[in-house]
Amino acid sequence: MLVSGSGTNLQALLDAIASDDAFGGEVVVVGSDRPAAGGLDRARSAGIPVFAEALGEHPDRPTWEKAVVAQLEAAGVELVVLAGFMKIVSGDFLAHWPQRVVNTHPSLLPAFRGAHAVRDALDHGVKVTGLTVHLVDEQVDHGPILAQHAVPVLPDDDEDALHERIKACEHRLFPACVRALCRDEVALVGRRAHVPASMATVVG
Ligand code: GRF
Repeated sequence: MLVSGSGTNLQALLDAIASDDAFGGEVVVVGSDRPAAGGLDRARSAGIPVFAEALGEHPDRPTWEKAVVAQLEAAGVELVVLAGFMKIVSGDFLAHWPQRVVNTHPSLLPAFRGAHAVRDALDHGVKVTGLTVHLVDEQVDHGPILAQHAVPVLPDDDEDALHERIKACEHRLFPACVRALCRDEVALVGRRAHVPASMATVVG
């Protein structure tokens, strides 16, 4: 698992795994590009090995990415879960885990890709935004969609308030998608991902 921020999605995943004997997977390592990421503290508290590979500590981006790959492979990672990981991974990275890299993004893709999705949705004046859990491909916030959930924008919303409501939904939908991947319950036909029907009611 890779995080850059506070790691609330990591925590939601850990809680989901702990409460479900049939989850089908475990978090074997948590890595970050930010040594001070709160997500690393959450992992340490849960007794999970962590690593930090800051881009600035490597001569260039490919070398940094190879170091991240080496850390994940050394831990025996079979599914790479990105949750608030603020770096783009390349095709070389993805080739190590074909169709096995998953991300959560706080908008209804393909609207509002990129690092400021919540702010961009607010600024655009949309009345509904939400979240998307998707497999990662070589384009940013673009790969096959596993699940989405709509979140209304309220008249007095600011970025933090809206993001918090989106996150509350992410904390339920993201672990459910990771569970389906761990249990090999996702089938891809082109870009279209077929997921368990129960996914539609996970958030409610
Ligand atoms: C999530 O909303 C995720 O969709 C976005 O960054 C946020 C990460 O939050 N890319 P956290 O670190 O899991 O609390």
